[in-house]
Amino acid sequence: MYICICNAVTEREIRHAVELGCTSYKKLHDELGVGTCCGKCKKDAARVVKNHVAELRAVNSSCGDFNLAL
Ligand code: FES
Repeated sequence: MYICICNAVTEREIRHAVELGCTSYKKLHDELGVGTCCGKCKKDAARVVKNHVAELRAVNSSCGDFNLAL
């Protein structure tokens, strides 16, 4: 599903960027250009980042031998 229509950025791409270290909306904005046009996607993009960071932290805390750089 597209989150940022102006820049054709999908939720999947945002989740992947989070896994590569874009753990804040600011970093995502800088890396993928999300929110650089009309800005209507900012809230949804920030929500995707926040939720995926939380999911990855939960995985990290339950799997001692699996550590993501968060
Ligand atoms: S929908 Fe993301 S900048 Fe317009």
